[in-house]
Amino acid sequence: MKAIYPGTFDPITNGHLDVIERAARLFTEVIVAVAVNPEKHPFFDMDERVAMIRESTEHLSNVETVAFPGLLVDLAAQLGAQVIVKGLRAVSDFEYEFQMAQMNRKLNPGVETVFMTTASQYSFLSSSMAKQIVKLGGDISDLVPAPVLRRLRERLASEG
Ligand code: COA
Repeated sequence: MKAIYPGTFDPITNGHLDVIERAARLFTEVIVAVAVNPEKHPFFDMDERVAMIRESTEHLSNVETVAFPGLLVDLAAQLGAQVIVKGLRAVSDFEYEFQMAQMNRKLNPGVETVFMTTASQYSFLSSSMAKQIVKLGGDISDLVPAPVLRRLRERLASEG
């Protein structure tokens, strides 16, 4: 069975990677789908976000990464994916995720949303927090994959 794991991934963190690795053991194929999401004004452009995910998931042979500008359920139909995987970090994630799952079911009842609990050591983590900490000189080496850490440091060095 093919699954889609969607998000903005600005950038991918070890919390996301943990969900991807576990999903890759459950499903024959996992497509990491990177949303355009203009509302979030991403720090990394689409090509960089996709490249960081590809580099961070090189060890997973059944994982692919794609960018998508439209509706998630349309992408699922286009790729023949039956499942949307979402990670739940805390109860606070639940309400919004529940709403999205219901809306996605309304848009396409043939696609099922499956929730996976995030590993406890990453339950407090978000992409924004990782970016903020590194900008302020903090150590996030155990919170993001190595390719992300490298790009974050390069980007901040180039911005002075
Ligand atoms: N580990 C670490 N952080 C995690 C995480 C995990 N396991 N799971 C989520 N997060 C963080 C993300 O990094 C993100 O942090 P940020 O707000 O600092 O960037 C935050 O939690 C929210 O993540 P998520 O709930 O996945 O939202 P998103 O904005 O990354 O993605 C989409 C939302 C893209 C999945 C959703 O908007 C979508 O499907 N868009 C496509 C258009 C569409 O179909 N719309 C209709 C939907 S009903």
